[in-house]
Amino acid sequence: MNIIMMGAQGTGKGTVAGIISEKTGWPQISTGDIFRKNIEEKTELGEKANTYIAKGELVPDEITVPMVANRLNEKDTLDGFILDGFPRTIEQAQKLDDILKEKNKKIDMVINLTTPRDETIKRILTRRVCSNQECKATYNLVMNPPKVEGICDKCGANLVQRKDDSSEEAINKRLEIYDKQTRPLVDYYQEKGVVRTEEVSTRINRLGIDVATDILNDIKGE
Ligand code: AP5
Ligand code: MG
Repeated sequence: MNIIMMGAQGTGKGTVAGIISEKTGWPQISTGDIFRKNIEEKTELGEKANTYIAKGELVPDEITVPMVANRLNEKDTLDGFILDGFPRTIEQAQKLDDILKEKNKKIDMVINLTTPRDETIKRILTRRVCSNQECKATYNLVMNPPKVEGICDKCGANLVQRKDDSSEEAINKRLEIYDKQTRPLVDYYQEKGVVRTEEVSTRINRLGIDVATDILNDIKGE
């Protein structure tokens, strides 16, 4: 099954995608993670992307689209994939349609996560991520703290704050871009009849596990 994770920053796209990926074996393809890995490794792509990401702006399509197209050529995507952070604009969605058409594939499900804005901002400010790019586990100082402060439960590496999470200016910029450029994509995919909207609030869900479990049960039942 080919899935897109949709939702504003901090709604839990990475968290829910990670759970579904672990249970199904479909790779989680997070454009943000690929950029961060390249920044860490100081590649040319990473250096170009960093200037945009640090400010909370979108990385230009001429960098992002071929990067995703190449990733979708890899064998582990044959049975399914979970796109996390792509597409973010109507143009990117149209380009994705072209890429998939060539492969005789289509998007089967768009998981649209919604969370009250005040809650997402708090979550972003208290998020910590594993510095080991092969692990990338995500924690939350309030909702999901690590067992030992500052250390990843899974691999023992140090936990860090993402650069774009420490500046309130960058967070606001990301949310502004989401409202203007990414939110319209929900209608784009609604017309194709593939959107599944889920409220992911602390009030009704614990760390997205309930949402991911419901989705997995439905996928298995199909
Ligand atoms: P990206 O890495 O995709 O970041 P983002 O869109 O800002 O989304 P986040 O990762 O912040 O949110 P999330 O929904 O994954 O939340 P998470 O699961 O971590 O992109 C970074 C940058 O790269 C962009 O700004 C842009 O510059 C560039 N970029 C990427 N893709 C691009 C594209 N297609 N085109 C152009 N540029 C692109 O959860 C958040 C926190 O909440 C965590 O602490 C988590 O533990 C906690 N949490 C999760 N679920 C719950 C819950 N149910 N209850 C309580 N807490 C929860
Ligand atoms: Mg994420």
